[in-house]
Amino acid sequence: DRKPRVFSGIQPTSDSFHLGNYLGALRQWVAMQDSTDALYCVVDLHAITVDHDPKVLHERSRVSAAQLLALGLDPERCTLFVQSQVPEHAMLAWILGSETGMGEASRMTQYKDKSAKQERTTVGLFTYPILMAADILLYQTDQVPVGEDQRQHLELSRDLAGRFNTTYGRTFVVPEPYIVKETATIKDLSEPEKKMSKSSASPRGCLYLLDEPNQMRKKIKSAVTDSGGDVRYDTEAKAGVSNLLNIYAALADTTVEKLEGEYAGKGYGDFKGDLADVVAETLAPIAARTKEFLADKAELDRVLTAGAEKARGLAVRTIAKAYKKVGF
Ligand code: ADP
Ligand code: NA
Repeated sequence: DRKPRVFSGIQPTSDSFHLGNYLGALRQWVAMQDSTDALYCVVDLHAITVDHDPKVLHERSRVSAAQLLALGLDPERCTLFVQSQVPEHAMLAWILGSETGMGEASRMTQYKDKSAKQERTTVGLFTYPILMAADILLYQTDQVPVGEDQRQHLELSRDLAGRFNTTYGRTFVVPEPYIVKETATIKDLSEPEKKMSKSSASPRGCLYLLDEPNQMRKKIKSAVTDSGGDVRYDTEAKAGVSNLLNIYAALADTTVEKLEGEYAGKGYGDFKGDLADVVAETLAPIAARTKEFLADKAELDRVLTAGAEKARGLAVRTIAKAYKKVGF
């Protein structure tokens, strides 16, 4: 029998991915390569739903792909590509948009958050979750590794797949979210009640994979904790420390309980110092490898072209089915 099909995407909207992207999603992407038939996508169509500079976007798509390779995605074991190179994504989004209710689309909370931060809000930002459903359904996806913030969008993808199948007959696999509980929402280092995000209000709130090791250390050391002194997991009373414990446990492949034991009787200073070492040691090689992948422009182009061809081979089959079903 066939391996489960996996699909996930990430936006090329900053110069570097952050620790929330890595622990919430990208680490799972790498881990799932062998046990599944995985497609991973730099979703540049999504990136133009907010203000953008064309030259910067093009460069960021390449840097994003290079980071994914540096994190350990292997084009021999998964399909890595850039969304705009597979036109079927937009084709399916149009069909699904015609199946989506206005009320249903209006309930998406990420749109409300993101549009509040824009001077000018676009229809593209509003219909973003429909394009995301198309990304997923196009590949008959079984599992979608994402962070908790994508759960509602995944629910819409499932609803659209189910509805289309009921109306037109079986066309799409109904996808399941794959969310790792411990790292489902990595919090902002400066405002631990919010999720870590590139739109953090504080320059030290978001830790980027390509930060200099010194910057990483500063960000960890200045992370907001609380007036207490003990390293204990309590998401209500000690949101900041609990977030750092989750990060530490995930990066050092240990458990929060073991860390609580190790740091019993020690203060936040020791704990943060050790965590800063773990973070810097884990991420520094990724930055170095990213540079190497970017240096060989022809090879990166070759990888992405081959990935898009492979993805397209699958995408055209779903489009043929869906076109026939709706009467084209
Ligand atoms: P961003 O949220 O920074 O705009 P994307 O929307 O491109 O990034 O998300 C890429 C992946 O990273 C998604 O699977 C998303 O759920 C995950 N992710 C983003 N921020 C976090 C976070 N703070 N904690 C856990 N996962 C996250
Ligand atoms: Na694979």
